[in-house]
Amino acid sequence: MTTPPPPALDPEHFRRLAHETVDLVADYLAGVPERPVFRPMTPAERAALMQEPLGAAGLDPEALLHRVRSAVLPHAMGNGHPRFFGWVNSPPAPIGVLADFLAAAMNPSCAGGDHAAIYVERAAVRWLMELIGFPTAGSMGLLASGGSAATLIALAAARHRAASDDGWNVRRDGLQGARAPLVLYLSDEGHSCLQKAAELLGLGSEAIHRVSTDAEHRMDVSSLRAAVAADRAGGKRPFAVAASAGTVGTGAIDPLDELADLCAAERLWLHVDGAYGALAAAVPTHRARYAGLARADSVALDPHKWLSVPVECGAVLVRDGGLLRSAFSLVPDYLRTEMDRGFGGLPWYSEFGIQQTRGFRALKLWMTLQHLGRAGVGDLIARHLALARHLAARVDAAPDLERLAPVELSIVCFRYAPADLRSDEAALDLLNKRVMQAVQEAGDVFLTQTTLSGRFALRACVLHYATTEADVAALVDAVRATGARLASGRQ
Ligand SMILES: Cc1ncc(COP(=O)(O)O)c(C=O)c1O
Repeated sequence: MTTPPPPALDPEHFRRLAHETVDLVADYLAGVPERPVFRPMTPAERAALMQEPLGAAGLDPEALLHRVRSAVLPHAMGNGHPRFFGWVNSPPAPIGVLADFLAAAMNPSCAGGDHAAIYVERAAVRWLMELIGFPTAGSMGLLASGGSAATLIALAAARHRAASDDGWNVRRDGLQGARAPLVLYLSDEGHSCLQKAAELLGLGSEAIHRVSTDAEHRMDVSSLRAAVAADRAGGKRPFAVAASAGTVGTGAIDPLDELADLCAAERLWLHVDGAYGALAAAVPTHRARYAGLARADSVALDPHKWLSVPVECGAVLVRDGGLLRSAFSLVPDYLRTEMDRGFGGLPWYSEFGIQQTRGFRALKLWMTLQHLGRAGVGDLIARHLALARHLAARVDAAPDLERLAPVELSIVCFRYAPADLRSDEAALDLLNKRVMQAVQEAGDVFLTQTTLSGRFALRACVLHYATTEADVAALVDAVRATGARLASGRQ
């Protein structure tokens, strides 16, 4: 029997390789806690990957697997480890790892049509809406690469509505006409993807009005109200407020209920950046803090953050599904279908967003959510909220640590601040930066940084389903020991 040329694989050969791959993955995942959280790569290791030429002849799949085992898997980012507290990157839910394998095997385009992947996405996105209490009737949601793409889609819809309200068509006219400049409001703590979206939408970063925050890093509604009035008086066109339901810096939740009132009164689009934090609305003890979320015009929410759905998996939810469609629908002849005839099915996802060809992201979300169940989602998040409070308590109890922000969700911001340095902000900034880098390089735990009121803060985000109080204790110990060592070296 002849071997088929690549990329084909003889079915039995595929089966053998797949079994080998599964063993490799299972060993890899089981071994993660035993390895360093992170290990910087040597110049030689980097070059071996980056500068490798593509051979003229194809390689044996077995040799390729071996190469992944020796050159790729040992240099993971670190977010699979229970002692990884960096950024907002979770480990992959094991069921999601399997789902990606299955989805790749089917490899549909989820642009639209009458096939299972489309209905899986409809269900999974509806579950997200239900979990956070977003209206399902008349709304529309779809999966995107992450919070940044979700934000771009949501703000494009907001811009479209503002133009329609004013009697013009932004899709036809663009932003070329001499019109009152559109203004987007966000707090000092709003995520950078909001600015990126404003830039990409042709609004320019100058269209952003940064609203001050209160002592708990939440948007100050009276400042917002005053800013909107002043901008209108100055001939500008306020059109949207981007609130945060979990800022990336500290996890602060803006006062969504009051913002929803203000936006309704001023006919401003209320977008909620819940990329990190929206899902904590599924926790009964936290639900009240999200009052107003149900009145948002759009929400960005990332299952690849708190739900541990393997990257990439973001979602955008828009209250007026018809409006979203009118902001994006552009169907070329070659893709025209009739609903429920032939391949037609439901209105196509590609009419509601940026992408034409769309991957089967929904399967990993659908399987992860069902593996957890409604109660499992709440339990997972509640555990992380409790661990963050536990970490905050340990920080508060340590004489050489100083907490720098309230703990709303699963983020704790603090710094190493021995008594003799407490009055020297510049020295503390530098010392804490060095502490963070040394902790990262040592590989026992991992945390990152943010800036709060101009001060360098160590930032730990609990997002791993297997993190325990012992892991939190290890983080505190590592920061204190590293801080003491580096501080004594300074003198
Ligand atoms: C609050 C918040 N919004 C938006 C984003 C951007 O999401 P993504 O990185 O998935 O594009 C992040 C990412 O960390 C975030 O934390």
